Amino acid sequence: MQRRRFLRLSAAAAAGAVFPRAHAAPATVPKPYSWEATPPVDSAVAYIRWMVENRGEDPRYLRARFERYQNMVGHVDLWEARNKRAFLLTPRDEFCLPSDRGVIYDVNYHSIGFGVTITGPRVVSRMTSTIDVKMGEKVLEIGSGSGYQSAYLSNLTDKVWTVEIIKPLAERTRAKYDELIGRGYTEYRVINTKQADGYYGWPENAPFDKIIVTCGIDHIPPPLLQQLKTGGTMVIPIGPPGAQHILKVSKDDVGGQIGVKRSDIYGGRPVPFVPFTKLDGDAVKGTHNQR
Ligand SMILES: C[S@@+](CC[C@H](N)C(=O)[O-])C[C@H]1O[C@@H](n2cnc3c(N)ncnc32)[C@H](O)[C@@H]1O
Repeated sequence: MQRRRFLRLSAAAAAGAVFPRAHAAPATVPKPYSWEATPPVDSAVAYIRWMVENRGEDPRYLRARFERYQNMVGHVDLWEARNKRAFLLTPRDEFCLPSDRGVIYDVNYHSIGFGVTITGPRVVSRMTSTIDVKMGEKVLEIGSGSGYQSAYLSNLTDKVWTVEIIKPLAERTRAKYDELIGRGYTEYRVINTKQADGYYGWPENAPFDKIIVTCGIDHIPPPLLQQLKTGGTMVIPIGPPGAQHILKVSKDDVGGQIGVKRSDIYGGRPVPFVPFTKLDGDAVKGTHNQR
């Protein structure tokens, strides 16, 4: 019943119709997840139809997702077929505050409560494309926030760990994954979550092939560098509060010695991030900045 309703909506959405605000209860995913399945990108109509039939999603948000996809490909924020597919399959509209669903595919970051944000889609895609995650690689995210980034990663690999410092947010995000898994987003089963101070990484599961840090700090946390595999890549916002530079950090064996290379993924343009905070007992207090 639910599925037929979405299929009817999809034809109207494909025609560019405007929908009323009220919408049905969340749909379940009609077809099992497959690593081989990729939505078509030759047109918005074909993409929306495929997503409705295979994922049971709401056409209103699918149109916005497809338009953001085209914009990001044009701006070279999103590269490689694997990363494009991961963006297209991840329902960003499920991870924001319900009041922001209509604007969540715009370029901005948005509040998710607790004084923190879901990062803008262009920055998320550029950071994710930079670490170039391949199937089977182990990826650690610091700063789970809304859960969107790790949901996106779970479309690239089957081994994801994510750490969030704010306890009620970590619990809310865990509950969101569980709800979505219950609705058929079985790809989120590969996401391991914990509430902790991510400065110290997740040593029990190290080393990681890739690390993505989504909060800003003035230095690379030594425990994270240590938990990154030789040959691995980290992406991390580094700099003073409110003016970080997103760095790609590569750790390599250079003639028997470990070498660390850094490059700015925005060619020198600062990108502000929420601070990399610190746990003092059970309370979040201050930051890990050294200056
Ligand atoms: C920009 S926000 C969230 C972005 C997130 N990746 C998403 O997809 O919504 C950064 C997150 O980092 C978290 N954070 C800050 N310091 C942290 C720390 N020491 N350990 C773990 N998480 C931290 C914040 O609480 C916040 O949720």
